[in-house]
Amino acid sequence: MDCNKVKGTDCKSAPAMMKRRILSFLFFALACTMFMTVSAQDIKLPAPDKTGGKPLMQALSERQSLRSYTKDSLTQQQLSNLLWAGWGINRPDKRRTAPSAMNDQEIDMYITLPGGLYLYIAESHTLKIINNKDLRRLTGTQSFVGTAALNIVYVADLSKHGKSESEKIEDSDLLLSYANTAFIAQNIYLYCASENLGCIIRGSISKDRLASEMGLRANQKITLAQTVGIPDK
Ligand SMILES: Cc1cc2nc3c(=O)[nH]c(=O)nc-3n(C[C@H](O)[C@H](O)[C@H](O)COP(=O)(O)O)c2cc1C
Repeated sequence: MDCNKVKGTDCKSAPAMMKRRILSFLFFALACTMFMTVSAQDIKLPAPDKTGGKPLMQALSERQSLRSYTKDSLTQQQLSNLLWAGWGINRPDKRRTAPSAMNDQEIDMYITLPGGLYLYIAESHTLKIINNKDLRRLTGTQSFVGTAALNIVYVADLSKHGKSESEKIEDSDLLLSYANTAFIAQNIYLYCASENLGCIIRGSISKDRLASEMGLRANQKITLAQTVGIPDK
């Protein structure tokens, strides 16, 4: 473009304008790259398949705890179905597949996978990356937890009960959270029975060490953990 022929164009400022445009473009490209790098680590799960599965009475008759797993992973569809069955949203008012006292929904499901620690976000049916550490081994005291496909760590977020980080948390503050956890865990048991996956709910956890590695706040308390994986027959 000949700036001398274009009304209102200042020839002297044209190189500066071009420089500004290039810089803006580079800044935009960098911002896009950073956004993609961060969000690429989150896992957007496929939509859960809410049809099929074994009849309820058959799943109940096959529900059991398993302590022997292969190192194989679940498929993304199995992971999606598992999390939705456990604690997904099943109604337009955002209520879930498991009950919670006063519908507080204070239980969070953290998922330990070989590639990192994730938080299940039911609204978007997404696994949000928390860190890139493989914390499976730390979720329990039994050796199978370190190599099974995944462990769920149930965490009660007591800020939803009005507890601040500086307040002391008594065992009695957690009674309802243990009950709420158990309903989710049973959903997971039934999904696993239906899908021929293995699972086990576990109370033997080194909670302080695990909470520290997970970066939990003082008003977030681990209740139970649950291993899920491919049965080693
Ligand atoms: C609250 C709770 C905590 C448990 N903690 C452990 C545990 O830390 N390690 C373990 O191997 N099993 C644990 N179990 C599994 C039980 O041992 C198991 O459910 C029981 O032996 C009955 O077996 P079933 O689930 O196959 O019916 C736990 C079960 C519950 C309900």
